Amino acid sequence: MRIDIVTLFPEMFENVLGHSILKIAREKNLVQYHLFNIREYADNRRCVDDRPYGGGPGMVIKPEPVFNTVEAIGQQTDIPSKKILLTPQGQRLTQSIAKELAKEPYLMLMCGHYEGFDERIRTGLDVFELSIGDFVLSGGEIPAMVVIDAVVRLIPGVLGDLDSAINESFSCDLLEHPQYTRPADYRGMKVPEVLLSGHHQKIKEWQKDHAIKRTRERRPDLIE
Ligand SMILES: C[S@@+](CC[C@H](N)C(=O)[O-])C[C@H]1O[C@@H](n2cnc3c(N)ncnc32)[C@H](O)[C@@H]1O
Repeated sequence: MRIDIVTLFPEMFENVLGHSILKIAREKNLVQYHLFNIREYADNRRCVDDRPYGGGPGMVIKPEPVFNTVEAIGQQTDIPSKKILLTPQGQRLTQSIAKELAKEPYLMLMCGHYEGFDERIRTGLDVFELSIGDFVLSGGEIPAMVVIDAVVRLIPGVLGDLDSAINESFSCDLLEHPQYTRPADYRGMKVPEVLLSGHHQKIKEWQKDHAIKRTRERRPDLIE
């Protein structure tokens, strides 16, 4: 998968893309990340935003530097990208959206800032509007990182153990069962006997029962 990130703050990504699963995915050649600084594509390099028509606080990202960036990227490759505009007004990210996005060969993530994007970026660029939740952040960079992490770990071959993504919370409309590791007794808090039994069938049943119990307690909406 190729992932392009269109942003005013490319430096913010270096750490996140350079560690853990996102780094491993790149090292395994399963994903390539490309960062594009919107400012470099502005006709006047210093000016990427302006005051909103009709008045109001803050600054709005101008259409021209964003269209210029997207068009310059388009000249690098013939493959069409799925363009994702990060906005709190978009469809809310879920595990099933992440799964769908993981099947795409080429994603372009567009990060807003300040008061957000000029509306013509939304209407003129054939974008999928995506939100990471019902709250407002200062910019689209952290949402883009969230989307990248959620998607990249689902690309086949990225996680060492395939099962780890299959059994996770939300993957089967359930939260995951409780997990334990060594020691079997920590300060008197004991690991359930069945998990130490080596009886695979019983362990699977315990895990399923506890996934359902936990989901019913915490997220009854998922059970429904
Ligand atoms: C301060 S926000 C703009 C909010 C906008 N004025 C509104 O009320 O809808 C600036 C940028 O942060 C990003 N952003 C903020 N919250 C987000 C969220 N929950 N999901 C995705 N992107 C978000 C978007 O890229 C947005 O353009």
